[in-house]
Amino acid sequence: MPTAPITDTVISPDAHEKWLEAFNATWANRHRIFQSCAPPPWWAPGLALTAEIRQNYEKYLPVAEYLQDLATLVLPRLPHPSWLPVVLKRSLALSYVGAAGLPASLPDLWSLLPPRFAGRLSWADGDLLPLACAIAAPLKFGSRTGRYPEQTQYLVEWLRQSNRSLLVVDYGCGTGQGTYEIAALVARSGRPGRVIGVTPEPLEAWMALNRGLPHLDMARPTDPVNKPIAGKSSISITDTPSRATDAGTNDGFAFPVPTSTVPILFAAGDIRNFALSRRADVILCNGLIGGPALNDDRTLKHIWVRIQDQLADNGIFVIGSRFHAGCTPRIERFIAAAERHAFAGAPLAGSCVFQRRPNASLPA
Ligand SMILES: C[S@@+](CC[C@H](N)C(=O)[O-])C[C@H]1O[C@@H](n2cnc3c(N)ncnc32)[C@H](O)[C@@H]1O
Repeated sequence: MPTAPITDTVISPDAHEKWLEAFNATWANRHRIFQSCAPPPWWAPGLALTAEIRQNYEKYLPVAEYLQDLATLVLPRLPHPSWLPVVLKRSLALSYVGAAGLPASLPDLWSLLPPRFAGRLSWADGDLLPLACAIAAPLKFGSRTGRYPEQTQYLVEWLRQSNRSLLVVDYGCGTGQGTYEIAALVARSGRPGRVIGVTPEPLEAWMALNRGLPHLDMARPTDPVNKPIAGKSSISITDTPSRATDAGTNDGFAFPVPTSTVPILFAAGDIRNFALSRRADVILCNGLIGGPALNDDRTLKHIWVRIQDQLADNGIFVIGSRFHAGCTPRIERFIAAAERHAFAGAPLAGSCVFQRRPNASLPA
């Protein structure tokens, strides 16, 4: 999707504070007008959204305009404009590409956010970075450890039989929990190896690298592994948030992951064009194929070509999905194309694993 040029922002703290005040005043005022003109029901957690509710919100509080305003507020809190969550980038690109890829209304956006952000229109400065993280990694992405137990079992066995130095790539790595899991399996197998997690959202890669979710309260107070990460209102590219234990200053928590000695790299990139320095032995792609972000037949065909190009002979491509039933036909079509691309496929419960046939070349 083409994007509008986003210029880097240089702004003094004073100016940003005034800008934030103006943003809050404008949207509080528009919210008051909404409440005096639009009939209930208004958004509340769990409310089933109808066309009429969406229309009312769009009339008084258009989501595209709100996100555009929010993007300009969030930009100075990020190391580089490229770190803006994809949805905010799209809002800035609106005049170029129309409203494609934006939530249909503010309630649709709120339904993706953790309770602390849902239903709100105005913010304190310290909210902006966690809010950007929440938009980059919506709750529905569901990244967590232990999500694909059937794969773990399979991979333990596959790694045991492998005898080479391994390159593992996790496309669509979210906030990295699954990437840490596979790295721990490689470490357990005793094989040397490296693991790369790839997501188009730089903020997700940053959260994955630092094992911190500034937008979620993940910690159980009694669990020593779940230490709060230091609260930050903005980040720079070299930041690695220190893990403070002062609960008074944190605005996020580290998530627990299996530790491993295998090097892990998290990169902001796209499965459609990410370059590898050598062929991979294992490519994971969970929660992406056939879902909302990757579903048209042409793209899915291109993914097979990419995977064939990027996997070593006998390497494996593992996909899992936890999407609603509506996505099933697309995933089935994708799976059915495996043979044509020289892959032998085998189903696992809820996942599928494909092995690349040696010396396979692309069909004409
Ligand atoms: C539903 S989450 C899945 C997270 C994790 N793999 C899991 O299964 O728990 C989908 C992930 O794919 C990423 N994604 C979306 N489009 C992508 C693309 N074109 N290439 C790589 N990753 C993409 C999203 O940013 C998000 O991190």
